Amino acid sequence: MKPFLKWAGGKYRLIDRIKAQLPPGRRLVEPFVGSGAVFLNVDYPAYLLSDSNADLINLYRVLQKEGARFVDYCREYFTPETNRGEVYYRFRSRFNGPCSGEQKAALFLYLNRHGYNGLCRYNASGKFNTPFGRYKKPYFPEKEMLFFARKARNALFVCRDFRELMAELSPGDVVYGDPPYVPLSTTADFTEYSRGGFSMEEQKKLAGLAVALAGRGIPVLLSNHDTAFVRRLYRKAQLSTFQVQRFISAKGNNRKKAAELLALFSETEG
Ligand SMILES: C[S@@+](CC[C@H](N)C(=O)[O-])C[C@H]1O[C@@H](n2cnc3c(N)ncnc32)[C@H](O)[C@@H]1O
Repeated sequence: MKPFLKWAGGKYRLIDRIKAQLPPGRRLVEPFVGSGAVFLNVDYPAYLLSDSNADLINLYRVLQKEGARFVDYCREYFTPETNRGEVYYRFRSRFNGPCSGEQKAALFLYLNRHGYNGLCRYNASGKFNTPFGRYKKPYFPEKEMLFFARKARNALFVCRDFRELMAELSPGDVVYGDPPYVPLSTTADFTEYSRGGFSMEEQKKLAGLAVALAGRGIPVLLSNHDTAFVRRLYRKAQLSTFQVQRFISAKGNNRKKAAELLALFSETEG
């Protein structure tokens, strides 16, 4: 099943490759859950799903708690009337101001489907600032939301930094970590996630945590671009790499081929 949100770096198209590498376990842990493409398409008894984007986690919690009732409420935001620039900017201001958790969740979905390229971008003071997307008829992802809500019965959603989350795991857990990509070059730093970027120091910290968890019997599978920097960073893991066609620019029409890398840190290799 496809995720109901558009999300930079979404892994829906890579799902078979990822599934082939993920070891079994009692609980799947995703420190960078994003749109949840992996969670939605694998089968574990339980899930611990986290992301540093608080608006994303709020939406998942509301959908998990309210299910079909919330889906019905969200439908009201998907009409020809609401698909106008003037309304978009009014809703965006409402989202950036005080509103209830449920309203904020519905507005986040609305902005994701009506905003430019599905971008999730915030300014320096944390206000959502993606411009209007001018889509003919934004898709209302009803069946995808209902599927998500059903699957979320066995999930716990938290909003934590990956360092904090990965410090709390125990044997039986399996980690799939999909951090913001390392840039392909210094000029190609194209992804904007939450507030602030993801630094090279954080990439190093993540690799270190993966080695440490593997040493405690908790396998960790990490995704990233296949670059020399990443290969060095993940040198203690078992690597597999493949080509994938994906959008990696904000300019929607700029398709580039980037090699993907999967790194499995496990007891024998770690
Ligand atoms: C490549 S995306 C994950 C995509 C996801 N696998 C999917 O299929 O949609 C990376 C995610 O990491 C989150 N993130 C960025 N920095 C983080 C941090 N320090 N701790 C936790 N999550 C973070 C972003 O909000 C973003 O959702």
